[in-house]
Amino acid sequence: MTPLAPWPYPRWVAHRGAGKLAPENTMSAFRLGARHGYRFFECDAKLSRDGVLFLMHDATLERTTNGRGIGGDLAMGEIAQLDAGSWHSRAYAGEQLPTLEALARWCLANHLHLNVEIKPTPGQEEETGRACGELMNRIWPQAAVPPLFTSFKPEALKAARDAAPHIPRGLLVDKFGDGTGDAELKLALDLGCSALVLNHALWNHALVAKVHGAGLYCSSYTVNDPWAAQRLIALGTDGIITDRLDLFSPAQDGPLL
Ligand code: G3P
Ligand code: CA
Repeated sequence: MTPLAPWPYPRWVAHRGAGKLAPENTMSAFRLGARHGYRFFECDAKLSRDGVLFLMHDATLERTTNGRGIGGDLAMGEIAQLDAGSWHSRAYAGEQLPTLEALARWCLANHLHLNVEIKPTPGQEEETGRACGELMNRIWPQAAVPPLFTSFKPEALKAARDAAPHIPRGLLVDKFGDGTGDAELKLALDLGCSALVLNHALWNHALVAKVHGAGLYCSSYTVNDPWAAQRLIALGTDGIITDRLDLFSPAQDGPLL
């Protein structure tokens, strides 16, 4: 069996920019993440009513903005008017929800890696995946390390693959249907994925061996405890998505001493 080439990305991934240290999926969060030494950033991307990819985790606006209703029902011009920072703290009042393009251009300009979780508004799986692929075809230079697309939604990954086959993909899985992970590994392989990104508790030695043996990388979310990170490193997994930028140092490959 050909050994798997090293994971082409840093191990440590800053979840939604800076975890909970700044309002998620805002440029302030990504900048703060970079100041903490992180070089690989996870974000959540969905489509506006007028077809612009923007960053927001939930389908609805209430938790992380001063808006109401479904985010994808608004045009980008309206989304850009929302306050996406006050919910977090006064220091971030007036923070905007950025477009995915703005984040991608910032990553490129600063030689940072990007993990785009394709997080469609329900019912828009295919168009959101396609739009992500088309955006990266347009702006991401072929010579640069490509972004990583991930999604819980196979239809979104399929559409991203069809639009931009050269951008690597990872299937996100929170629970296994039958407890073994075999069906999910098969689905990831069928989708041409290069990674399986699991709820970290699902990994064990046998599964890591099976997934690596199938030629896929092993990554985990959302890892906020030192013992959990230590376990995943000892298991030989590749990526760790964390909120705890204040605790884990990519430079030290673990908790700050
Ligand atoms: O990308 C991994 C992780 O972000 C998936 O869960 O709900 O935090 O988007 P969620
Ligand atoms: Ca996410």
